[in-house]
Amino acid sequence: MTESVGTNELLKDNFALSVVTWQEKFGRHHLPWQHSGAYATWISEIMLQQTQVETVINYFKKFMTQFPNIAALANANIDEVLAIWSGLGYYARARNIHKSAQMIVNDFDGKLPSNIEDLMKLPGIGPSTAGAIMALGHKHYGVILDGNVKRILSRCFGRHLDGQSHHAQKQLWQLSYWVTPEKNCHIYTQGIMDLGSSVCHKLHPQCNQCPIQSICYAHKYNITPHLPYPKVKKNKPSFTKHLVIPYHQGKLGLMKRPNTGIWGGLWVPFILDELPKEISTFRTYHSIKHIFTHQTWIIKPLLANDHLDQIEHWFYPEDALQLGIPKPVRDVIEIIHHDQINTLQEVE
Ligand code: ADE
Repeated sequence: MTESVGTNELLKDNFALSVVTWQEKFGRHHLPWQHSGAYATWISEIMLQQTQVETVINYFKKFMTQFPNIAALANANIDEVLAIWSGLGYYARARNIHKSAQMIVNDFDGKLPSNIEDLMKLPGIGPSTAGAIMALGHKHYGVILDGNVKRILSRCFGRHLDGQSHHAQKQLWQLSYWVTPEKNCHIYTQGIMDLGSSVCHKLHPQCNQCPIQSICYAHKYNITPHLPYPKVKKNKPSFTKHLVIPYHQGKLGLMKRPNTGIWGGLWVPFILDELPKEISTFRTYHSIKHIFTHQTWIIKPLLANDHLDQIEHWFYPEDALQLGIPKPVRDVIEIIHHDQINTLQEVE
């Protein structure tokens, strides 16, 4: 038994050391949030939830220019934050970041906490994001468990799990704590993220480039693409939504949504389940499919000359594009703007 514990310890050290050595040579070292302190790590980690690195880079740069530190973010109006976030999706993330910045100023002396418990008191920061901020931002000990890490651990250590169940989460957290080294924890953490995104792909893993190939259970048994077991996909319900955009004298009528729920705090036109029978449609546009986490919307945009008296806020398209607006609304307004410049004749 002692020998098998010894073997396990060797396996664990070999795992961590291989990831660290590989990161130094082949990992990413020039992402804009690297080497920029804990505030930059926090903002990037939130943006990177459910969003690709390539998409995040420009948003991150714009955000840091506008809000270079926690105090600037805390003092900003939420509308400014949502305007910068516009198009990135999952807007609760932006509202949480803003609320957190104010909590940090009020409760934490303006400094991003450097312990897991306090970090997790901030809205939007769960255990894995807190671990990433600890490791990458503060260069302390911190443990993460995102989708990439789950995939690597379940493959390397032969966990036949579906990755989603409560049981699997518990086991994988234990494994992640076990393999994460105290020494060079930040390099290891970036390394396991980099390995997941560039080598240990979900469907087409590049095992010949992998630093832990020789100790990988899934590779040994030739089952790498089969672990972890895929999520059971639930069919998302699909809804048709009519995006009725009031149009008058070249301006668009928009309303601010309440702060909670889908597109909370963003500016939108009418979003209707049914089109009113008597509506004077001025122009229609191609449908847009928009996929949320739990549902899909087929959005049918049109310009209308109705209900104008219900609208308090009117914007020229170029001004509307500066507001916090959801991606499909932005896409339609860009087309309207383009049309206006070219052909759109106003109907009084
Ligand atoms: N995804 C989440 N965090 C990341 C990071 N620090 N670098 C690259 N991709 C990431």
